[in-house]
Amino acid sequence: MESSGIVSIIFFFSTIINCKGNNNLITNQFALFVFGDSVFDVGNNNYIDTISSYRSNIRPYGQTTFKFPTGRVSDGRLIPDFIAWLPLIPPNLQPNNDNNKFTYGVNFASAGAGALVETSPGLAINLGTQLNNFKNVEKRLKSELGDAEVKRVFSRAVYLFHIGGNDLFYPFFEKRNSTFQSNSKEKFVDFVIGNMTSVIEEVYKMGGRKFGFLNEGAYDCSPRSLIVDRTKIGSCFKPVTELIHVHNKKLAEVLRSLQRELSGFRYALHDFYTSLSERINNPTKYGFKEGKKACCGSGPLRGINTCGNRLGPSQGYELCENVTDYLFFDSSHLTEKAHRQMAELIWSGPPNVTGPYNLKALFELKLTYNRSYILRKIKDKVAIYK
Ligand SMILES: *[C@@H]1O[C@H](CO)[C@@H](O)[C@H](O)[C@H]1NC(C)=O
Ligand SMILES: *[C@@H]1O[C@H](CO)[C@@H](O)[C@H](O)[C@H]1NC(C)=O
Ligand SMILES: *[C@@H]1O[C@H](CO)[C@@H](O)[C@H](O)[C@H]1NC(C)=O
Ligand SMILES: *[C@@H]1O[C@H](CO)[C@@H](O)[C@H](O)[C@H]1NC(C)=O
Repeated sequence: MESSGIVSIIFFFSTIINCKGNNNLITNQFALFVFGDSVFDVGNNNYIDTISSYRSNIRPYGQTTFKFPTGRVSDGRLIPDFIAWLPLIPPNLQPNNDNNKFTYGVNFASAGAGALVETSPGLAINLGTQLNNFKNVEKRLKSELGDAEVKRVFSRAVYLFHIGGNDLFYPFFEKRNSTFQSNSKEKFVDFVIGNMTSVIEEVYKMGGRKFGFLNEGAYDCSPRSLIVDRTKIGSCFKPVTELIHVHNKKLAEVLRSLQRELSGFRYALHDFYTSLSERINNPTKYGFKEGKKACCGSGPLRGINTCGNRLGPSQGYELCENVTDYLFFDSSHLTEKAHRQMAELIWSGPPNVTGPYNLKALFELKLTYNRSYILRKIKDKVAIYK
């Protein structure tokens, strides 16, 4: 079962590539644009001015597939790597990447980022800035391809988001004053969802129609969260559990209303909370030996994130022998093996796991915009022939 999803991903993309021959411009692809946090960051934080705990360009990160640290916060590939398959979509900020980087899409995600500007200020690229970076890509593309063509490309593309988790954790883990302290839980979550919605609406205005989302996973039960209360090691971090549930409920509601309000808006929402919590609680059912202990780190459950000595060389850290036994690579981030499973669920999962569309259906979906565009083209031709 595990491999069949991946086979369909490869098959789907190679079909597109084969049909289109050797012209590999973005115009002939179904592009993927990625926004978010460490769950999706393929290396953007390597290129910004930040601190070492916000970067993962150190060993043993990247040890599994790449054999060197790429900046991905995992032993290997992330969810977008499995969705886009090959070639990997590079980080937006990677230098020396001319137009080829737009071939399959662009990844704007940044580890530590939130939807709110006050989350990780100055240390990560927040969602609003990711949108601005996308607008810069739009400008470049428009000067090369023209406005109408870029709109067409954008309308066929899929926009994948994982954002919000850092906003929910930040007030607790960073112990900073934020919007959180001065507002009720409901109001705080409204701000997170509100800022996220503004970005979705902007992308829609730019032509985006097909959106993919992961709700917030069960990170309230990650190794890091499981050791917050040292007197009750192994119990989930309750204050965040509550926030995550409010957030996920509101996210589902807002997406339903966007689909009603915005003509042609279609989306996939993966229930990451459930898929992750199932694996934390029943690791062996999914091929893992450990669901609660990280592969890399120190302290109880390796829940202190010293992996790669990111908190300084004096700390030291443990690294597991066989990463394929583990769900979590470090205290808050999954292994490549887990990412592969999640990518399959997002790509082809049933509606109670990923809905109302799954990502495969979204990519294949023909939008009215495309039809009217084609009809207009045909009309133009007819006019010429007359
Ligand atoms: C945080 O907020 C409290 C109460 O509003 C205030 O007394 C304190 O000085 C603030 N701390 C910082 C670091 O801003
Ligand atoms: C975005 O978040 C800020 C707090 O950073 C808040 O003041 C603002 O109202 C939010 N915007 C929306 C549209 O919810
Ligand atoms: C690692 O674990 C997997 C699954 O438990 C097993 O198939 C593999 O042989 C192990 N590899 C090593 C090097 O022990
Ligand atoms: C989804 O539905 C199937 C049956 O159609 C069921 O076996 C499975 O447990 C459901 N998954 C979730 C996450 O609810």
